[in-house]
Order: sequence, then C-alpha cells, then structure tokens
Amino acid sequence: MAQHVDPSSNTDPLLFTPGPLTTSGSVKRAMQRDLGSRDQRFVETVARIRARLLALAGAEGDRFASILVQGAGTFGIESVFASCTPPDGKWLIVANGAYGERMVQMLDRLAVPCAVMRSPEDRPPEAAAVASALDADSRITHLAIVHCETTTGIMNDIGAVGHVARERGRRYFVDAMSSFGAIEIDPDACGIDYLVSSSNKCIEGVPGFSFVIARREALSSTRGWARSLSLDLLASLEQFEKNGQFRFTPPTHAILAFDQALTELVDEGGVAARGARYRQNREVLHRGMTSMGFRAFLDEAVQGPIISTYLLPEDGAFEFGDFYDYLSNRNLVIYPGKLTQAPSFRIGTIGRIAADDIERLLGAIADFLAERGIHLDAGT
Ligand SMILES: Cc1ncc(COP(=O)(O)O)c(C=O)c1O
Repeated sequence: MAQHVDPSSNTDPLLFTPGPLTTSGSVKRAMQRDLGSRDQRFVETVARIRARLLALAGAEGDRFASILVQGAGTFGIESVFASCTPPDGKWLIVANGAYGERMVQMLDRLAVPCAVMRSPEDRPPEAAAVASALDADSRITHLAIVHCETTTGIMNDIGAVGHVARERGRRYFVDAMSSFGAIEIDPDACGIDYLVSSSNKCIEGVPGFSFVIARREALSSTRGWARSLSLDLLASLEQFEKNGQFRFTPPTHAILAFDQALTELVDEGGVAARGARYRQNREVLHRGMTSMGFRAFLDEAVQGPIISTYLLPEDGAFEFGDFYDYLSNRNLVIYPGKLTQAPSFRIGTIGRIAADDIERLLGAIADFLAERGIHLDAGT
C-alpha cells in the first residue's frame, strides 16, 4: 500500500486527523493555477465535479443534483437547514456526538423548531426509537443524523433510520462529512433527500468548500423558504444550471485540487478501494495501539474506519500536550479528543496515508512511552 504515498509531499507533516488531511503532491500541484471564476475552463471544471459527485453517490440521472457551497463543511450543513425548512417545519435531530449537537445549535440560531433524540456517544441510535419519536410528534417534517460521528468514529445506521423516515413521509438529511467517498452510500436506498460532505475529507482534496447532494423533487419544493442569502441552495442550483457559475466568489484553487483528487479516487479504484485502504490503516492502528495497552473508547462492532478514539491513560506521566508535541516534533500530527464523557485523543486513518505511515506513528508512540517510562497494561 506504500505506493499511495507521494514522495513530493514528504516534507509536510503526516496528518492523522479527520481533515484537513494529508493530500497527494499532485493534488497540491493542481492548485498552482489562476483561473477566472467566469472563465470557460473553470466553468467546465465545476460542471465535471458536479457530475462526478453524483456518479460517486450512484445518483446519476436527473433525480439528484449536486451543489457546491463555499466554506467549511459546517456551511454546507447550515445551508440545508437554512434553505430547506418550510415556514412551519420542525426538525428531529438524532444526536450521539458533537456534530449532531452542532446541528441543534444551528437550528437554534435560525429559530427553527427542533426536537432532539440523544443516544450515548458510544451507541448508535436505534431506528425503533427514532420511529417512536416521529410518531409522537406529527409536527416533525424533517429528520437529520450524522453518518460517521467524527467525535468518536462511530458509524450510525443511516439505512435503518432512513427507512423509518421514509415510511413516515419525513424528509431525511444525512451529514456524511467524514464518510462520503470511502463508504458506499446509496441515497435512494437510504431514502436520503439531502447529503452533505466536504472537499477535505475522504475525497482527499484541500479545504475550501462543501457540497450538497439533493433530491431534486425535495429541493425544488423549497422555493421561497431560504432564511439566508448566501446559503440559499435552490438559488445556487439554479445559477449552476443557468450559466455554470457560483453566485459568489468560488474557491477556484480548491476546486482545481478537488478535480484532481476525484481523478485520483477513480484511479485508486473508487469508493470500495479507498474504503479498503482506510480499513487496513485502521486495522494496523488498532492492533498496534491495543498491543501497547491503549484502550479504545468504542466497541469494535460500531467502530468505523475513519477515526479512532483512545482513552487517555491514567498514568500521571502521560500528559496529552506532551504526547502531542512529541509526535508533532516528529512530523506526525494527531487530534485531541472531543468526548464529553472521558479524557481521550483521536487518531484519523483517512487521507493520503497508508499502512506504513501508521506503522511509523505506532513506532513513535512506542518511543514516547519508553522515554517517559510509561507502562500500560496491554489488553486492558
Ligand atoms: C461529521 C462531521 N460533521 C460536520 C463537520 C464540520 O465540518 P467543518 O469542520 O469542515 O466545518 C465535521 C468536521 O470534521 C464532521 O466530521
């Protein structure tokens, strides 16, 4: 798997993070062009990207449309809430982590009514409980859930929850920020009306924009509902379809990088092959971490291949800042924890990294433990 690592990017740190993440040298080089946002070459690139995103989702044809939204992933999520909520609409947010909670915050800011169904951070929500929550409140028109809750790395069952939503005629929104491109998602089979991801996750582009894959029939019914000018999805779609352009200044360089990243995803063998590389990365990581005595927060049955959460060891000599700096000084960047329940840290296994990079990280972690005289109980 070492062939995926591009030597031209070797001076940059390796990012074991959920994005921005390590990108290939060729993706970075693709940015080194200045294209006018109304230039035909740029317009063609945008059109190609929009079509390729639909192909990745297996949503070719005219039932779905893809819309690029400037800004971070959060902007894409907020664009759905701000554009697709009817004046008398109400959302049910199914939350088991920080990104589900962020959705609740957004609706709060938009003064849109919302109910929240919470489950613990280490447990995927039960579809039957979602069904009961929908049955208990007929005012709920829309339902949203996070696919891979990057807070922990847990995978939520978007198929089962989507089935429940569709059976009850509710619109369904999936935040697939950290899963799209590496985990197969069939929007039709899952009953998805809106799906959001971003440029700097599993497609391995650079940060700059997010994208929405929207069921046309759902989006076209939202006319007049937008509560935001810049995040108005239907207006953006209409502009893309009218003249191929963004309504406001696009991140031209990030778009060029993303086009190259999509080519590299196809060259790697598509979503299945990318997912397989990430799963292998994660297996190597998990084997190494547990054999050193680190304890994973999640049960393996619900753990995804994107990011893994480990509990901070209780040994007084183990201090996260010191650990982080030790690794960072060796050009290896990990991620702090985001759990509400316990001190933890996270290691991402996505981006242009392969099993030998994970081995390098594991070696540095072993060196840290040895240098600090920390002995963890393997297997506990
Ligand atoms: C599942 C999920 N949703 C939303 C976001 C927010 O994306 P951004 O940080 O690009 O705004 C992230 C970021 O990691 C995420 O993992």
